[in-house]
Amino acid sequence: MGEAASPGSLLLGRESELGVLDQLFDDVHVRGGSLEVTGGPGVGKSALLGEAAARAADRGMLVLRVTGVQSEAWLAFAGLHYLLRPALGHLDQRGWPGGSSSG
Ligand SMILES: Nc1ncnc2c1ncn2[C@@H]1O[C@H](COP(=O)(O)OP(=O)(O)OP(=O)(O)O)[C@@H](O)[C@H]1O
Ligand SMILES: [Mg+2]
Repeated sequence: MGEAASPGSLLLGRESELGVLDQLFDDVHVRGGSLEVTGGPGVGKSALLGEAAARAADRGMLVLRVTGVQSEAWLAFAGLHYLLRPALGHLDQRGWPGGSSSG
């Protein structure tokens, strides 16, 4: 991605999807959220996810990535383990994100 490129400028015809992403990121601190990206081979799933990660990072969010491995499909929570392991250092003593006490 070029240095001068604005977010999403290289993704043609994805204004609607990027709008959904921005809305998710606007609201996620309040209510959480998830988004499933599906589509046929080569339709642009990885490109969209890459843009999502870039936008999240620009907002100061912690971005974690994981890829499922078919040979580990029988291992319970293997993917979740890979996904959350890098985040363990961000948990406070109660196991909650953040580290500052509240409530
Ligand atoms: N909106 C877009 N505008 C321009 N180029 C795009 C767009 N989406 C994807 N591309 C380009 O099309 C190609 C395929 O995109 P991508 O790899 O993201 O597809 P994919 O759905 O993840 O494919 P696969 O099913 O193989 O995982 C890449 O070269 C990518 O840069
Ligand atoms: Mg892909």
